[in-house]
Amino acid sequence: MSFKEDFPMLKSDIIYFDNCATTLKPNSVIDEISNYYKNYSANAHRGDYDISRVVDEKLLEVREKVGRFINSKSADEIVFTSGTTESLNLVIKGFFEDYLKANDEILTTKAEHASLILPLFEIAKKTNAKVKYIDLKDDLTLTMENVVKSVNKNTKVIALSHITNVIGDVRPIKEICKYAHEHGIIVLIDGAQSVPHEKVDVNDMDIDFLTFSAHKMLGPTGVGVLYGKEKYLSKVKPLILGGGMNAFFDSLMNVEYKDLPEKLEAGTQNLSGILGFGKALDYINEIGIDNIHKKEVELKKYMVDKMSKLKNIIIYNKDIENGIITFNVDGVFAQDVAAYLNKKKICVRVGNHCAKILSEVLGVKNTCRASLYFYNTKEEIDKFIEALDNDNILYESL
Ligand SMILES: Cc1ncc(COP(=O)(O)O)c(C=O)c1O
Repeated sequence: MSFKEDFPMLKSDIIYFDNCATTLKPNSVIDEISNYYKNYSANAHRGDYDISRVVDEKLLEVREKVGRFINSKSADEIVFTSGTTESLNLVIKGFFEDYLKANDEILTTKAEHASLILPLFEIAKKTNAKVKYIDLKDDLTLTMENVVKSVNKNTKVIALSHITNVIGDVRPIKEICKYAHEHGIIVLIDGAQSVPHEKVDVNDMDIDFLTFSAHKMLGPTGVGVLYGKEKYLSKVKPLILGGGMNAFFDSLMNVEYKDLPEKLEAGTQNLSGILGFGKALDYINEIGIDNIHKKEVELKKYMVDKMSKLKNIIIYNKDIENGIITFNVDGVFAQDVAAYLNKKKICVRVGNHCAKILSEVLGVKNTCRASLYFYNTKEEIDKFIEALDNDNILYESL
């Protein structure tokens, strides 16, 4: 099945293999954004007139749609943010700061993204809590056994990604949450690389906090989600104060905030973006998240089989079942490989992929990452393989 008619960018001659960074957008998302500006460009929560009420209703619809997508108990557990990064900062600074005490332990891994690690570092420094790393196996995956080994009576938080953005391994989240809850530990899951690619059910997995970004799942940039169980989310301190989130204030500095989710959404949200995100979810639902996952696994297998037949290609995550292929060309600096592929109009990401600590265990500083989504094709992969099947990559990258 071709998706060319739905995605304007697929009509260009670019081969886009950087879907972990952001995905392409279908016409339905682009049109919805433009529809907002053309037909009901009003603010939300404030209108005593029809077009503002339309915006309110549409926002609620999207909030409910997001809730159904991850199976939250209530739409009030869905907070709109600017992206995963803001969502992670909001939980870590707005909740963990008060929750953690000196010598409490936060468990994470060396494979995590800067957007999780850096706020954790800051909060650990502020509270004198400790950040501890759960050991990864030699193939850099995380086992339940190593999670269990790392937990002790001081462990208060487990914070990690569901699917990592370099190796792409899928963590056993349901088992981690079960074990954590039996030991009084709160679990924060960075779902930036999982929610767009496979079913994430917060209820079934019993996740306490989940974060993800719309732009990594066909939606616009500048929109993200923080999901939290009501009992925890209601304790998150707003980091930004202002209009839309207060119920009352007076000259004596008496202040009352609104209930969830508005309490955590001060100021004017990215309204057109949120409405566009609703269309992105419709698109994904129409294909089916399980079919998306199946297609990515099939494409990756096809790509890895062909790459394995080439000389000098090192693949770091051959056996991981999703669309992420992290590799190097032996003897060629990763940046040069990307520059060479760029000349062939093939987009891959190169560097440390914001997971800077991973290089301590991976043994190399920089890698190339091709990340696939359901709209990529075997024909595109054939062109990529043809480009890589070249002894002169270094020379031709210049
Ligand atoms: C695992 C992971 N977490 C967090 C982020 C940050 O997402 P955003 O830039 O949308 O806030 C990314 C982005 O690549 C990611 O891959």
